[in-house]
Amino acid sequence: MNVLVVGGAGYIGSHICKALFQAGHKVVVFDNLSSGLRSNLQANTVFIQGDLLQYDEIVTAIQQEHIDSAIHLAAFKAAGESMIVPEKYSLNNLNGSVNLINAMLECKISNLVFSSSAAVYGAPVYNPIDESHPKEPENYYGFTKLKVEEILAWYDKIHSFRSACLRYFNAAGYDVDGELKGLETSPANLLPVVMETAAGLRENMQVFGNDYPTPDGTCIRDYIHVSDLAQAHVKALEYIAKQGESINVNLGSEAGASVLEMIAAAEKITGRKINYSIVGRREGDPAELIATSALAQQKLNWRAEHSDVESLLKTTWEAYLQNGVVKS
Ligand code: WQD
Repeated sequence: MNVLVVGGAGYIGSHICKALFQAGHKVVVFDNLSSGLRSNLQANTVFIQGDLLQYDEIVTAIQQEHIDSAIHLAAFKAAGESMIVPEKYSLNNLNGSVNLINAMLECKISNLVFSSSAAVYGAPVYNPIDESHPKEPENYYGFTKLKVEEILAWYDKIHSFRSACLRYFNAAGYDVDGELKGLETSPANLLPVVMETAAGLRENMQVFGNDYPTPDGTCIRDYIHVSDLAQAHVKALEYIAKQGESINVNLGSEAGASVLEMIAAAEKITGRKINYSIVGRREGDPAELIATSALAQQKLNWRAEHSDVESLLKTTWEAYLQNGVVKS
């Protein structure tokens, strides 16, 4: 297929492009480079620097590259920031997504894989979370992801526009082959923060609360390796093209790890002391968020293969070492 990967120069996008190439698809990256890196673009990638807020740029890209499907990853994703400047998230995450979907419709193409998030569920009523779990997002970022899912459901009903909404749990890790190593700039997520601390790029890090109802008091999350996520996107694209059926599925490892477990494992793998201080809870953090990915296994014949804590940390540490940023 001729796949337009919107946001393909980003951390997750670059891993998806690699998986698409390996599966024999043509890849066209459409990215405004607001956070993506040119260095993440692999050889023989067609790259179009464009913005989802410029509708005509999308139509032109689809027409000139004979695009027949798309994977949409371009969104702001900082839950905390979305509760300070929701207007930024409305414009980018909502208007941008509607522009892409409408441009695909205008060009008479369907088959969109949409990067959604576990944030659509909000606080867990039960764990592990399945796709029938109540959807009550606790932050505006999660709200924008849910709204795009709902728009896609209506477009399927009215236009038979096919989509796969993939609800990521906590994406982490780096390319198991060690080829993709573009580090995120000023990350806020746990694993890169732990790694920056191990690398000496940060003096220390903060643990947001140790008084949760969990074995060690810190929050438990379902971390999913980005290479596993990438495989799921290829399988989802091929599924909706072949089956002509839209799907919404969770992507998680189905295993949980706490903040302190991650820190202890990182110290073992890096051989470095990770200085941290326990501070107050971060607003909106549930104690535990774990997925069941049974539906993705059933529909896509997909399961996580690299999402064990050791692989997540080893591949991430390797990326920091390869970038030459680890202080001795
Ligand atoms: C994980 C745990 C923190 C940093 C976020 C988004 C979510 C999704 C995944 C896109 C939490 C703790 C973190 C730190 C810490 N994004 N932590 N110190 O919040 O589970 O999910 O990323 O889809 O929408 O909200 O991920 O990595 O920020 O935090 O103690 O410096 O680590 O409190 O318990 P989160 P995270």
